[in-house]
This record gives sequence, C-alpha cells and structure tokens, in this order.
Amino acid sequence: MSNRMWGGRFASGPAEIMEEINASIGFDKRLAPQDIRGSLAHVAMLGAAGILPADDVAAIEAGLKSVRDEIEAGRFVFKRELEDIHMSVESRLTEIVGPAAGRLHTARSRNDQVATDMKLWVRDTLDSLDQQAADLQRALAETALKHAGTVMPGFTHLQSAQPVTFGHHCLAYVEMLARDRGRFRDARARLNECPLGAAALAGTSFPIDRHATAAALGFDRPTANSLDSVADRDFALESLAAASICAVHLSRFAEELVVWTSAQFNFVKLSDGYTTGSSIMPQKRNPDAAELVRAKSGRIIGALTGLLVVMKGLPLAYSKDMQEDKEGTFDALQALSLCLAAMTGMVKDLEPNAAVLSQAAGSGYATATDLADWLVRELGLPFRQAHHVTGRLVGAASAKGVGLEALSLAEMQEAEPRITDAVYAVLGVANSVASRTSYGGTAPDNVRTQAQGWIERLG
Ligand code: ARG
Repeated sequence: MSNRMWGGRFASGPAEIMEEINASIGFDKRLAPQDIRGSLAHVAMLGAAGILPADDVAAIEAGLKSVRDEIEAGRFVFKRELEDIHMSVESRLTEIVGPAAGRLHTARSRNDQVATDMKLWVRDTLDSLDQQAADLQRALAETALKHAGTVMPGFTHLQSAQPVTFGHHCLAYVEMLARDRGRFRDARARLNECPLGAAALAGTSFPIDRHATAAALGFDRPTANSLDSVADRDFALESLAAASICAVHLSRFAEELVVWTSAQFNFVKLSDGYTTGSSIMPQKRNPDAAELVRAKSGRIIGALTGLLVVMKGLPLAYSKDMQEDKEGTFDALQALSLCLAAMTGMVKDLEPNAAVLSQAAGSGYATATDLADWLVRELGLPFRQAHHVTGRLVGAASAKGVGLEALSLAEMQEAEPRITDAVYAVLGVANSVASRTSYGGTAPDNVRTQAQGWIERLG
C-alpha cells in the first residue's frame, strides 16, 4: 500500500529497506508532547484567522487531546510505516475525528513542524540543564565554604606548584559552571524564534498569523526568513557546543576525582553511593561514577561533531539529512543531565582528607615562591635575584632531603647573608595560603567571601 499521507502519486509502497532507513518514529516519538502542543497552537490560529471553521477546530483540538492522553497512558501504537511522529499523530487523529483531521495540515509542512518541535524540546532541556548546573554550583559552593581553610597542593603540569585551599579549587568549578549556564541561556535566547508557518520552505498563501502561534508557544517572535526557518539547526549545534564545553569541565573534575581517590594520592574519599567494589580484589573502591562522567564527554562531543558534519554540505532549505539531528541531540543532552546529577551527588558526599592534603601541600618545595617573595618584600632583592637565591636554598634542602623550613638560619645566610629568622613564618603552608589575598587569590578569607556570595546568589 502506498503512504496515506503523501502516496497520491505512488502506485506501490516503499521497499522494506526504504521504510527502515526512512523511519524516525523509533526516536522522534519522544517529540509527541511538543508536536501536539505545536498542532494545538497552529489549529487555534487557523480558527482565529478564519481559515478553518470553528467546528473543525473544536473537533481537531478535542482529537489532539485524546491522542495526547493515549500517548501519555502508553496506549498509543507507534507504527513504522507511518514514518515519524508528525504522521503518526495525524493518522490517529484521522481515525478519531474523521476527514476534518486533514485540515490540520493547512498552511504548514512537516519541515516547519519538525523544526518547531525540536526547538521546543531543546528549549525545555536547556532550562533543566541550567537548573541542574545551578544545583552542582550550590553543592560546590557549600563544600568550598566548609573547606575554605583546608590546604592542599595546587598543581601546574601536575607537579606541586603552590599551596591552595580545597575551597578555592571547588570554586574554580563554580566559575566554569557559571560560564556553562551563560552559554545555555545564550543558546536559549537565540533559539527562541518560532519557525511554524514557514511551511515547506517558501511561506504560505493562507492569511496565517505567525505572531500568534509564536506567542502561544512561548517564542519571542516568529523567524524572519522561511528558508532559514526550515534549514536551520544552529540551535541544536549551539546547545551541543555548550553541552560539550560543560561536559569537558565535568570530565576534568572527574579526572581529578579519579586521581585523588587513588591510594597513591588519597586526597579525598568518595561515598559508598558513588563507588563500586571489585569482584576479585576485596581492597578496591573504584570511582566508576567519576570515570563514566569523564567518558561521557566522548559521546557529547561526538554528537556535536556528527551534526556539524551532517549540516556542513546541505543546500537550502530542508533535506532529509536533517532527520539525523535527533538521536545525537537527545542522547547527548540526556547524558549531560546524568553527568550533572552524578557529579552533584559525588560532591555532596565528598570527604577531603585534610591531613594528607596538608602534608602534600608542603612537599615538593611548594612554598619556594613565598620565600622568593619574602626576599623581595623584606630585603628589597630584585625578583630575579630572589629567584636565584631561593633556587640555591631549594638545592641545599633537597641535597639534605629536607624541607626548606628545616634549613638552619646559618645555612640560609650562606645563600643570602641578610636573611633573618622572620623568614620561617612564610615557609608554612597555612601562612602561604593566608598571604594570597589578591582579588581571586586562594586566601581562606577570600574563599569564604566568594563561597558565601555564590550561596546567596544561587538562593
Ligand atoms: N521526520 C522528518 C525529520 O525529522 C520530518 C520532516 C520530513 N520532511 C520531509 N520533507 N520529508 O526531519
């Protein structure tokens, strides 16, 4: 049998394999709520504009609502031969209300319909990702406040560089998430133009009111160019790009958790809720949730790359290639949602091992910069010379296998005779972090103020 929706000129139905490659119902059925919402707005507008008689509008509206109920109740039977969600809904509507259902598709096409459905889905998803990112920020800011004074090694090149505080490290991720949320909101603001009424590609000769449908669906305005309306998938690309950057942030943090929970580092403890055991090695506590957060960035970035490649050679306006926007977008944004939730859970339960962190913070001559700064500040040495003197002292200490604070004053004075015993005050890690009071620096007072500020702003 040829297709009931578009098969007028076809003598026979599609080949089996054609049906299989063509059908999107297996994955676009999740757009049912958006599709029905769009249709309700469209038919109401057709009625208000005098394009459809009121009784047809009423019948179609009632029919759409019962289709929605059937889908919500799980009673709806999705059939592959109906291709996609748009034709599935319309076909069932026809069974319920009869031939009047055929009037719903007046002055629209599946091309503007699918663009509208996708925008509605992506918009809702961006809103919930923004909320989830805020939840993670809150968990991090609360941990930061609790650990504003907990010292730990700060790294560059994964080599101990200078002591920082655990709270400061947490707040670094709060900042990243703030930028992620800004990107989600930017993407949302830019996508918020309604393609409905662009029809197949050229607009329509019916006197439709695109401003009315745009407003009914919560869009700021209708899109201005009908070709662009049906050819555009920037909103999906932009959301996937924002999601990819956020996923990269989460992946970096996940990597740190994996390293920090190893027996060799032992910096933090994850809760039982977010670790697993080994079936053969009883001592193991594996950070699987963190590893999976790290890994899922792969599919999220993959979805962005995949859709960029799908779109890059397409002539205007719609091509069926664009049906391939869906699975990757759905999968990637859902994966990010799961990562944000898992990361929030891990952060809430996380226990930094303060004793180990403090010990590690002081190792590796992490306060060498404090010593050099002291020589500049107290003795007026040019920084380059102070760096040189400090280098000699680090050499002397490491030859003896001890920390800088274990050198005697006499040994210090061999490198620079004007050094006094006041120097020992800056060699402790607590003094080191407390002295970093420059704006954005790691001093516990700074961290406390910033963490409190975030907690207030996040509400
Ligand atoms: N299932 C299609 C998609 O997702 C709907 C649009 C089909 N349009 C068309 N002209 N065949 O892209």
